[in-house]
Amino acid sequence: MNERYEPLFTPWKVGNVEIKNRIVMLPMEGTNMIAWEAKTQFVKGIEELYRDRKDNNIGLFIPGLIPLISIMGEKWLYKHPEVFEPVKPIIEEIHQSGAKIFFQLSAGAGRSMILPTLLKPFVKQGLLNKASSKLIMTKWWWSAPDPELPNVWATDVKMGYFTSEMISQFVYAFGQSAKLCKEAGVDGVEIHAVHEGYLLDQFAMPYTNHRTDAYGGSLENRLRFACEVVREIKKVCGEDFPVSLRYSVRSMTRGFNQGAVPGEEFTEIGRSMEESEKAIKILEEAGYDLFNCDNGTYDAWYYSHPPVYAPLNINLKDVEHIKNFTSKPVVCAGRMQPEEAAASIAAGKIDAMGLGRQLLCDPEYVTKIKEDRMDDIRPCISCHGACLTFFGMNGQGTDIDPMNPEMGHCVLNPWTNNEIKYSKAPAKHPKKIAVIGGGLGGMETAIQASLRGHTVDLYEKSDRLGGVFNAAAAPSYKEKDKQLLKYYARELEKSNAAVHMNTEIKDIGSLDADIVVVATGAHARSLNIPGAERAVTAADFLNTGMECGDKVVIIGGGLTGCEIAYELALQGKHPSVVEMTEFLVGARGICMANSTMLRELLRFHKVPAYLNSTVESITDEGVIVNAPEGQVTVPADTVIMSVGYTPDKTFAPEDDKSKKTILKRKVSKDKPQVYFVGDCDKVGSLRTVIKQAYELVQDISY
Ligand SMILES: Cc1cc2nc3c(=O)[nH]c(=O)nc-3n(C[C@H](O)[C@H](O)[C@H](O)COP(=O)(O)O)c2cc1C
Repeated sequence: MNERYEPLFTPWKVGNVEIKNRIVMLPMEGTNMIAWEAKTQFVKGIEELYRDRKDNNIGLFIPGLIPLISIMGEKWLYKHPEVFEPVKPIIEEIHQSGAKIFFQLSAGAGRSMILPTLLKPFVKQGLLNKASSKLIMTKWWWSAPDPELPNVWATDVKMGYFTSEMISQFVYAFGQSAKLCKEAGVDGVEIHAVHEGYLLDQFAMPYTNHRTDAYGGSLENRLRFACEVVREIKKVCGEDFPVSLRYSVRSMTRGFNQGAVPGEEFTEIGRSMEESEKAIKILEEAGYDLFNCDNGTYDAWYYSHPPVYAPLNINLKDVEHIKNFTSKPVVCAGRMQPEEAAASIAAGKIDAMGLGRQLLCDPEYVTKIKEDRMDDIRPCISCHGACLTFFGMNGQGTDIDPMNPEMGHCVLNPWTNNEIKYSKAPAKHPKKIAVIGGGLGGMETAIQASLRGHTVDLYEKSDRLGGVFNAAAAPSYKEKDKQLLKYYARELEKSNAAVHMNTEIKDIGSLDADIVVVATGAHARSLNIPGAERAVTAADFLNTGMECGDKVVIIGGGLTGCEIAYELALQGKHPSVVEMTEFLVGARGICMANSTMLRELLRFHKVPAYLNSTVESITDEGVIVNAPEGQVTVPADTVIMSVGYTPDKTFAPEDDKSKKTILKRKVSKDKPQVYFVGDCDKVGSLRTVIKQAYELVQDISY
């Protein structure tokens, strides 16, 4: 092992429980734990994720949140000890591997609960009235500390009131549920959460708690609920039973649905650092043994769920600071990197590194660090493209794609949370496979097929692997995307696939193969407007070094356009964005953490956005924009067209050219069978490309 990582592999203690190393697998709810009433789901949630990871050098596992009460039907967890029975063997296995496990018990979400917005369309269509939809979701899930607090996801939906009687019932339920966890063999519990703007956090913060009873007003009163919880657990389970608290050091919140960006001066309406210094002492005194820390609230969600725009180790400085105010250990979460974590642990500034998405992306991550195989790591690119797509937000409310409500999966590792569905066994009937196109879809197909024992040839017409992902990875803040390209190239090299660069395939019939996989990607679209030839496409701009003048107009305020605008703002240039819809980054399938951070960054950098606007033409002076307030000329030295992609149809069958909806098409029963993967079939996202490639290899490997 490289000696700089050694501090990560030293033991530490939470209460009397010794943990073998400083790696904590952070809770990541994949909807299984929430649905604990369905026993099989509950077991699957733990089994799938942890069986694969328990022998991979993780010290402490904290599975995703388990609610005290079901969302529908008012079933209390503590009245159902039977749900713990089937997880006992897995807990035992985890112990045998030398790791420890805490269960995370949740008080719920309060105003952060997403379900009211899911029910909204039904309410709107008259299929449910508000009262009956409240019945579907019990009052516990509709309620928040203040009456009429706006729901995060739909500000016009107001929450109910969490009464002091409900608090007493919850405190009791926490004690009883923790007792069941202890009896099931877990080593401790974590309380969810004075963190991220969940219910207990809403009680703790001034902007969401204006109560006049014993649970509102002073800081002590606002923390009373969280303190009563730990006291009750200690009373029921004994002083020695460790209780951790998921804790956000600072809220970083400017207003409802308004977050501050790193480095911004702003007025904190949530928990300031000054208040946090006092709060952690009160919480420690009440009995908490560990603080599992980050920053943020649902209004500034990108600290708790840092996207690609967030600096690496985004919360580390604040967590290091708060450790000075408690004698208990602290864990730090949020794009943590092993170098910085090890240095901080060695200096006694934090106690452990919390890892979330990176362990979904690469279950062997820690083993690879230990064995000094850093280049073998599949890097998490913080895209949230399958782990949290469920939580999309287009600027005004949820934007969940009902066909793809993904949660807890991984764009880059479809295996995760699908361990029971997929196979890694060698193919029973290995085939000769030709892959046309060396983008990520083509490379994923070639790597997976080669792993399953097929004979693979990959043909790339250019001298560069990566396809359109090269453009996506170009901005300066995309260091993990660039690492990912290197990872793919390396995996391809390690595989048995033969790679033919600078080789254009013109005729599928010329290939000697049982199966041909077409993965030729897409071409940048352009608008048919006067002066269009003066613009450069986003892909060309990103691929050719981003040379441009000072005033840059970006036509199209989707993800790519806004990412370019942010990159140019970082370079000190003056970009503007023209967008025909009412939102920037409005596409489906983009996690709220990503879209809100990008929007807030553009706000912070004062990037003008012309919304609900179309482009009339491009002239010498600039871009003529039809904005709602009338026609304006936006001056431009450079104009970038970022209006999406269109599938490459080189190999599309004649009769099928207009069909865009079928994801994976087999066009002939004869040899070779031809399949289409990724954008050349239908322009999608990285998730759809990788998933199609992965599933295609699953399909042809039986
Ligand atoms: C799919 C998913 C589900 C999550 N569920 C929970 C949860 O149930 N409880 C919790 O405290 N945090 C939850 N989190 C937050 C993570 O524990 C972690 O703090 C976050 O992902 C940042 O760490 P990372 O940058 O290492 O991923 C979740 C995150 C993800 C991606």
